This record gives sequence, C-alpha cells and structure tokens, in this order.
Amino acid sequence: MADGAIVVGASSGIGEALARELAADGYEVGLTARRTERLKEIGAELPTKAYVATMDVTDDDRAREAFDDLVDAMPSVDLVVISAAVGHLNRDLEWEPERETIDVNVRGFTAIATAAMTHFDDRGAGHLVGISSVAAVFGNGGAPAYNASKAFVSTYLEGLRYRQAGREGDVTITTVEPGFVDTDLAMGEFWMCSPETAARQILRAVDSGRDHVYVTRRWRLVAWLLKALPERALRRLFV
Ligand SMILES: NC(=O)c1ccc[n+]([C@@H]2O[C@H](COP(=O)([O-])OP(=O)(O)OC[C@H]3O[C@@H](n4cnc5c(N)ncnc54)[C@H](OP(=O)(O)O)[C@@H]3O)[C@@H](O)[C@H]2O)c1
Repeated sequence: MADGAIVVGASSGIGEALARELAADGYEVGLTARRTERLKEIGAELPTKAYVATMDVTDDDRAREAFDDLVDAMPSVDLVVISAAVGHLNRDLEWEPERETIDVNVRGFTAIATAAMTHFDDRGAGHLVGISSVAAVFGNGGAPAYNASKAFVSTYLEGLRYRQAGREGDVTITTVEPGFVDTDLAMGEFWMCSPETAARQILRAVDSGRDHVYVTRRWRLVAWLLKALPERALRRLFV
C-alpha cells in the first residue's frame, strides 16, 4: 500500500509544492483548501492518485468532518501537513483582517491539528507537520496578528511534542519555520527561496523525523539574532 499524505492549504504556494514533491516521492495525496477547481487541476497533474476535499478551516466543525471523511477515503494517511494560512499587513488594526488571521491561522489550524492527532493516536503512528514562520519569534507592528498567530502555531506544536513524549505510539511532530518564500503571502524578499526549494527542504526534515526546521537553513541565524536582541532594538526594526 502506498504511503498517504494530506496537505491542508494545497491550492497554492508551499502547500502546492509539497503536494507535488510528495506525489513525486510516491505518496498518494489528499489535497484540501477552499479553491476546489484549482485543487482538481493540481490533482490531475500528480503522478499518484489524488483525493480532493474542499475545506474552509474557519468553518471548523465542517472542516473537521471533511478531514475525517478524507482520511476514510484514503487507503492510508501517514502524514498531515497544515500549510493553510493568511497574512495581512494591518498597521491600522482594522478588525476584519485581524479576525480572519486568527480564524484561519489559530482556530482553523487547531481544528485540523487536533483532528490529525486523533487519527494518529487511533492508529498509533503518524507525522504531523505544521508550517509556522520565523515570524513566530518576534512581534511585528505591521502585522501584529500574523506574527502572534505563528507564535501560537510554534508553541502549540511544541506542546504536542511534550504531550507525545508521555505517550505510547510513534507520532512525530515537526515545526517548520520558513523565512521568505516566493508566494502571494510573502511579506518580504530578503533571502527569498522558491516554494519548490522550501518543499524539498521540508520533506528532508520530515524524512529525518526532525522536531523543528528553518527554511532555508540560514534563517536560523536570523531567528537566533531576533531572539537575542532586546525589545528596544526590535522596536526600531519592526515599527
Ligand atoms: N510565503 C512566505 O514568505 C512564508 C513565510 C513564512 C511562513 N509561511 C507560511 O507558509 C504557509 C503557506 O503559505 P504560502 O506562502 O504558501 O501562501 P499561499 O500561497 O497564499 O497559500 C496559502 C494556502 O492556504 C489556503 N487557505 C487560506 N485560507 C484558508 C481557509 N480559510 N481554509 C482552507 N485553506 C485556506 C489557501 O487556499 P485557498 O485560498 O484555496 O483556500 C492556500 O492553499 C502559511 O502557513 C504561511 O504562514 C509563508
């Protein structure tokens, strides 16, 4: 039986590139996001069997049902990647973009992460990958909700790893913190890599069972520096 993976947020960017890389590696892939036609087009181009499930993660009960239905439809789901997110520059603190960011990146993320962990707990094995961001390590005056939502994702996944340490079962949880990746969501161009490069590095980390990876690797230096700088210095950078 072929390995199976579900990618949440597979209709563009890093999620799409991951779906293509996974299929090239022989995985059957479950593709989910809101843009059904786009998912179907991507699925038709994959070399392995693809399963398409429309899902809006902010409609959390329905999204969890759609996730469970997708798990049931696929022969095996060994890997779940949650890539879905939105990001808005929102210096004026308008409520709608802040609300959407929290709904997708925090509530939607957790709705699917818990459904995936339930599936892995039941079968005693699996691998959950959450796409966070280097943005998780600092506050940002231009996009306060986005950076805070990524801090939630990174800390939530760390919590899942601690939970797993006290349990039986072979469940791995990997936190991915990319720098800038060339997609619609990118908020800068410094050290930018392509979604394909990001996907290849993410899958190498998955294959090695890593807890955490920066993509590309040199963003580790930026994260280290940002964690070391005092808030009065960061304030000048992220005003
Ligand atoms: N690009 C960067 O520079 C960068 C840097 C660090 C981290 N990241 C992270 O990388 C991940 C992927 O982002 P990306 O750069 O690849 O951006 P992207 O191309 O905009 O992809 C975002 C994905 O999320 C899906 N999505 C958005 N809202 C959704 C909802 N309500 N329900 C279900 N799916 C939803 C989108 O699909 P639909 O619109 O079809 O629903 C799309 O597939 C995100 O977690 C992002 O925070 C990106």
